[in-house]
Amino acid sequence: MSVFLSIWLFALGALATVRAQNNALSFNFDQSSEAMSHFSNRERTRFPMFAEGSIYHVIVVDQSGHGHFRKLQHAIDSVPRDNHKWIKIQVRAGIYSEKVEIPIDKPYISLVGDGRHNTVIQWSDGGGSATPDYATFSVSADNFVARRITFKNIFYPPTISQAPAVSLYGDKVAFYDCGFIGVQDTLTDLLGRHLFEGCYIEGYIDFIWGYGQSVYHGCTINVTSGPYNDRIYGAGYITAQGRENIEDSNGFVFKYCTVVGTAFAYLGRPYQRYSRVVFYKSYLSDIIVPSGWNPGFVAGHGGSVAHAEVDCVGPGSDTSQRVKWGRNLKPNELNLLLNTNTFINQDNWVENQPLPTRRMAPKLLTLRTSTTTKKIRRQRQRIPSSRSFPYAHPGKG
Ligand SMILES: *[C@@H]1O[C@H](CO)[C@@H](O)[C@H](O)[C@H]1NC(C)=O
Repeated sequence: MSVFLSIWLFALGALATVRAQNNALSFNFDQSSEAMSHFSNRERTRFPMFAEGSIYHVIVVDQSGHGHFRKLQHAIDSVPRDNHKWIKIQVRAGIYSEKVEIPIDKPYISLVGDGRHNTVIQWSDGGGSATPDYATFSVSADNFVARRITFKNIFYPPTISQAPAVSLYGDKVAFYDCGFIGVQDTLTDLLGRHLFEGCYIEGYIDFIWGYGQSVYHGCTINVTSGPYNDRIYGAGYITAQGRENIEDSNGFVFKYCTVVGTAFAYLGRPYQRYSRVVFYKSYLSDIIVPSGWNPGFVAGHGGSVAHAEVDCVGPGSDTSQRVKWGRNLKPNELNLLLNTNTFINQDNWVENQPLPTRRMAPKLLTLRTSTTTKKIRRQRQRIPSSRSFPYAHPGKG
């Protein structure tokens, strides 16, 4: 038996209790069986195993005072600057009323809650045009992963306003079994490569928007305006993707997702001219408006937009009345987008995170900077920091 394997088996033993507590092996997709019976479990579950061997240190956050900290932000503040070993912050059940930021110099944090219905981080902020700044939870650092936790923005002024639950600036950021709850701009998926797996995303206007390069795998998307539900509004917008140049590598890809809701919605309205969005093998309920896509912010420039629906099912998946513009994805580009490894996981960062992984043994962390990371960093320089966001944001629906 190799030394490496023995160390790993030892780690497995030590983690047995944690594994049992977290029930991590029953990977929980939050979808109605009706919707998802179209696809096999094997197809939907990409990372069925669980490995946590590369965790270096654990910090416990507990509101009742039985952990290291009562506030999540205090736990984050305790992580050393320029951290380079995975640190797990476990957040016990409770509603944490906090606005939280993972600053750029605190990479390699793994945040784990007690289930998305039990551990909730919420705050109320929004309204003006500095959209990303209002987020309840923002990630500026690279290499972050969260699991089993909900982020919520409860800013509910008389009219619907921009109020994100999260703003993501970091590269190599993943969320598993998490919830994102808001009305407008809920998931401000700004920049970097991101994976969302088995997550629940709720909102009404542009509620998955930004310049992110992201795969949404097996997520439930609920179009609903929360406390505004009893008012009469037009159709909402699920996505507002912001790819600006034909060379930019970003876009949103939805695979095996379930789209439901209490309001009608467009699959998206492009936020920039080269906006790229794909829905693949997803269930679309009857809330999707027949034309599918709204010209949004690029009216008259739909010629460069690229959106696609591939093998979707459900009453909202009928494409016979879809708009004619925006069908610019070439087959090779579509293949690149649909393969998670070529689109976001070029340097195997997904497997290197201390989370569900296809391998039994964790791979040792490699800290080299890939060309993709460099490219994303250059792109990020156009959007300098969470405190100075130069872009005007989509207005109200
Ligand atoms: C979507 O939101 C509505 C309104 O809040 C709620 O009744 C419904 O259960 C949600 N759907 C899912 C799948 O969670």
